[in-house]
Order: sequence, then C-alpha cells, then structure tokens
Amino acid sequence: MPRVLVISGRELEEILKPDILIGEVEKAFIAYSNKSTVTPPRTVMWVENNWWGIMQSYVPNYGVGVKVVNVIPSNVERGLPTIQALVTFFDPQTGSPLAIIEGGVLTALRTGAASAVSAKYMAPELRGPVAIIGTGYQARYQLRFVSHIYRADEVRIYDIRDEAAEAFKKYAEELGFEVTKCRSSREAIKGANLVIEASTTRTPVVEGAYLESPSHVISIGAHLRDARALDDDVVRRAEVIVVDSREAVMLETGDIRIPVESGVLSMERVYELGEVASGRKPGRLSRDGVTVFKSVGLAIQDAAAAAVAYRIATEKGIGRFVEL
Ligand SMILES: NC(=O)c1ccc[n+]([C@@H]2O[C@H](COP(=O)([O-])OP(=O)(O)OC[C@H]3O[C@@H](n4cnc5c(N)ncnc54)[C@H](O)[C@@H]3O)[C@@H](O)[C@H]2O)c1
Repeated sequence: MPRVLVISGRELEEILKPDILIGEVEKAFIAYSNKSTVTPPRTVMWVENNWWGIMQSYVPNYGVGVKVVNVIPSNVERGLPTIQALVTFFDPQTGSPLAIIEGGVLTALRTGAASAVSAKYMAPELRGPVAIIGTGYQARYQLRFVSHIYRADEVRIYDIRDEAAEAFKKYAEELGFEVTKCRSSREAIKGANLVIEASTTRTPVVEGAYLESPSHVISIGAHLRDARALDDDVVRRAEVIVVDSREAVMLETGDIRIPVESGVLSMERVYELGEVASGRKPGRLSRDGVTVFKSVGLAIQDAAAAAVAYRIATEKGIGRFVEL
C-alpha cells in the first residue's frame, strides 16, 4: 500500500521560507527555459462560470507535480479564499504518489518566489517606495518575498475594497513596514520604484504614463485572454519585458496577447525569467529604465515547491503519513 505524506498550509509556511524557496524556484525557471522540464500548457475548464486549472509538470531533480486549482472571485463575499488548490506529488522513476499538499498556500509562496527572482535580476540596484495594487491574499506573500530582495522604505497601497486595504495595512505594519493607503492606483504608483499588481481586475490598473523612472513592475493578475492589468503605455515604456512562459502568456493573458496582436509589442522583445536568470538575456538595460515582469503561473513552480516541501518535511518529521 502506498504511503503519502500530507502537508498542511501551516506546515508549508514553516518549511518554505523565502531564503530557501526563491533559489529553488529560480532553478526551476532555468530548467523550464532550457527545455529540460515536461510542462504542457495547463488545462483550463469553466465550472459554473469560474476558472479551474489542472497544472502538471515534471522538473528533473525535483519530481512530478499535479495541481488542481480554482479562482472563485465571489468567495470574497463568502469569507473563503479566492484561490483554492490541492497539489499531488509523485516519484518520477517509480510513479508512486509521495505527497498530498495544500495548494492555496503553496501557490502564494511560489508566486511570491517568482516575483522575487524577477526583482533580483530586473531591479538589482533600485531603492524606494513599493506600490501594491490589489491587497488581497497574494499581496501579503508578494510583499514578504519581494522584500527579501528589494528593501522598501515605504509601501503605498490601493485596493477598490477599503477593508482589504485596511487589513493589509495592519499586516504590513506588523511586519515593520511604513504603509500609506492611497485613493487610486495612480496615486500609489506615482513615485514608486517597484510596482506590484496583485489584483483581480480585468481592466488596466497600472498606467504607464504614471510610472517612475526607474521602476520595475511585477504583474501577477489578469490571467484571462481578454483581461488586462497593464495599459499599452506600460508596454511602450518598458525597456525589458520578462514573462514566466512565452507560450503561457500568449494563451492566457491580455497583458501580452492584446499588445502583440495590435502591433504595440513584438514577441522578440519578450524574454523568459529562466533566460534572464541564466544570463542569456538581460533583465535591465539602463539605470533609469522601466522593466516589467508578467506572470500567469507555471506548473514548474508547483512541482519544485512541492518537491522541496516534501524533502524538508521528511527530513524534519513534519506532516502526517497516510496509507492509501
Ligand atoms: N501569476 C501567478 O502565478 C498567480 C498566482 C496566484 C494568483 N494570481 C492572481 O493574483 C490575483 C490576486 O489573487 P488573490 O488570491 O490575492 O485574490 P484576492 O481576491 O484575495 O485579492 C485580490 C484583490 O484585488 C482587489 N481588486 C480587484 N479589482 C481591483 C482594482 N481595479 N483595483 C485595485 N484592487 C482591485 C480586490 O478587491 C481584492 O482585494 C488574481 O488575479 C489571481 O488570479 C496569479
């Protein structure tokens, strides 16, 4: 009978600290862009008007991870998370199932880690305020992971829901940040050298005309073909645009697909995070330029994070084994 390790969200928080996960996620991105992983585009299905994804990947030296994830925006009114997920993790040689892992926390952790990798290569010398547009669940992890690389002296926040902004302000202040609540995304962005978009918007909330020079923009929202979080001016002003996967962003976000199809952006200008992290492409060209990292999320991140969580949990005796 196979035995699997069950790892909870709380246990993941304890295991996958930024100093461990950022480096591991970076390696997974390099493997992805070297084409040494097996990562088919995720299967998307619509269930009662909500997005569900099935994300599968084999990352050499890590293992096979399969995640079932959904995005239910109306869960905000139910007091439930917008994103819920479950990750299964397998041994690539024997095919045996090894672990069942809570996927909501895992997703937020690995997404924070990817954004931090972008800051490492695209904003290495930047300092100054960080603006966060959309201050829900992901935003907390974005701030924690990105600030491991980028030291923010002030956090400027905007959310259409004041209660979300208020709760985030309290959270960030408890971490020791100085937080300013703004009345619009425009107000938050002005003067910020790092902009993090982590919202559920479908229309642009980051306007290129208001971006500071220099600045680095991280956008993790707008995961639908017709949704955009960034306007055309962001794309026009960017000296470098980096994505998690060229294939995925063309399929899954209006932020890249729409400007490419309208001729505002050429795909030749779009690099992958793994290409930048391995030194094959530049993350930044000048001291005062605008750079953009756009992610929709890749299964390699889940497989690598699951593998690291499984390894550390078994070493430290964390989690519970269950016989199937
Ligand atoms: N790229 C990735 O790998 C990845 C991973 C996980 C989640 N995401 C995406 O991140 C986004 C946020 O997810 P979450 O779990 O934090 O959701 P959430 O519901 O907890 O938070 C989203 C916040 O955005 C706010 N918002 C919506 N429209 C806005 C607007 N126009 N201006 C300002 N704020 C606005 C909402 O009020 C809410 O507080 C979603 O789009 C999700 O799909 C991306």
